Amino acid sequence: MDAEGRLSVGGCLLSELAHRFGTPLYVLDELSLRSSCRAYREALERHYPGPALALYASKANSSLAITALVASEGLGLDAVSAGELLTAIEGGMPPERIVLHGNNKSSEELALALQHGVTVVVDNWRDVELLTELARGRPGPVPLMLRFTPGIECHTHEYIRTGHLDSKFGFDPDQLEEVLTHLATCRWAQVRGLHAHIGSQIFELEPHRDLAGVLADALQLARRLGHNVTDLNVGGGLGIRYVESDDPPSIDSWVQVVAEAVAAACRERELELPRLLCEPGRSLVAPAGVTLYELGSRKQIPGFSTYLAVDGGMSDNPRPITYQSSYTACLADRPGAAAVETVTLAGKHCESGDVLLRELPLPASKPGDVLVVLATGAYNASMGSNYNRIPRPATVLVGDGRAELVQRRERPDELLRYDVLPERLRSVG
Ligand code: LLP
Repeated sequence: MDAEGRLSVGGCLLSELAHRFGTPLYVLDELSLRSSCRAYREALERHYPGPALALYASKANSSLAITALVASEGLGLDAVSAGELLTAIEGGMPPERIVLHGNNKSSEELALALQHGVTVVVDNWRDVELLTELARGRPGPVPLMLRFTPGIECHTHEYIRTGHLDSKFGFDPDQLEEVLTHLATCRWAQVRGLHAHIGSQIFELEPHRDLAGVLADALQLARRLGHNVTDLNVGGGLGIRYVESDDPPSIDSWVQVVAEAVAAACRERELELPRLLCEPGRSLVAPAGVTLYELGSRKQIPGFSTYLAVDGGMSDNPRPITYQSSYTACLADRPGAAAVETVTLAGKHCESGDVLLRELPLPASKPGDVLVVLATGAYNASMGSNYNRIPRPATVLVGDGRAELVQRRERPDELLRYDVLPERLRSVG
């Protein structure tokens, strides 16, 4: 906050950023992102007695700039598509620190991973089939990890729960022995790691502790079947604070629980300590991001709601309409002013459900004021769309009073770029 009580991030006044770069605008704080990367790295060093690496789950927010930042902090990266993989490689992430996930990888995506020496996380038998074909005639083995469903329930939105047995991701635990036995006969395959992920936006630590035992059992099985498995990947999932009442554990506590549980589970089974991998997404980037909007129209319904509309909505933040997620928001230039009304913050899309926030207490405001929604750095830009043919916002990276454009705003005319109008449909008058 500056002397006049206006909000700034990374030494940049938010209302000034809005005027300079336009709205809606994603703002990403470099220091916050770097600090979270360091928190993971240092916690792993502190709490795990063996080697360890955090891989940034780039589905949370994939861009060249974010890749370059997390790579410079020594992290690796998890990609789930050719697009995320290309972004990682172009952004300077060393391929040996990248893993490729996906429950239905295309042959092209797998070929790209092989071409760059990226580790493939085998999710199902189709992956094995495709890799067998692609590996034919290639020199050297293909580095693999094997993903399975750990059968662990946790409390989060059902759409983002992945660890329970009825999930589309990974091998069923009952299939693990069969697939490991098969891969032991494949000369091209080098099974280096095992992976399981239980879900996202999780506040509990217990499921992560349970996961360690399940992974250690799988490690024991894989080594017994002759695989030189050196990596255990526990996935991501640590939740963040979106609203005051959210109370997630710190990165340090999460890592401590995971690291100690993995080390203990391996000790109990007399297993040589594997390298510990984890894949945080949200907890790395969400707190580093805010979205700026300009306030526009107002609709007051006596006895009901007051709708205040912003110049974006579900196309730049689909989380409220998809998961009923809550956020915190305030006016950029009067964050501390006393509230005079409670509003429903509506988006501008043609969809009644396009509401970003309900019951938002706000001080007096007028059209043109800049509104800030906090903690939007994860799963906003990356899940955005062009619904209603609305262009995607720009992203600026801020730090030390500097603001740099790292993703430029789309223009409406660019949205027509991929349309093809057949000659016979061209208007004749
Ligand atoms: N690893 C795997 C295999 C994953 O599937 C995910 C998230 C992560 C790591 C990263 O999880 P995180 O640390 O971000 O919780 N769109 C939803 C979240 C979907 C998460 C999908 N997988 C949302 O907006 O809440």
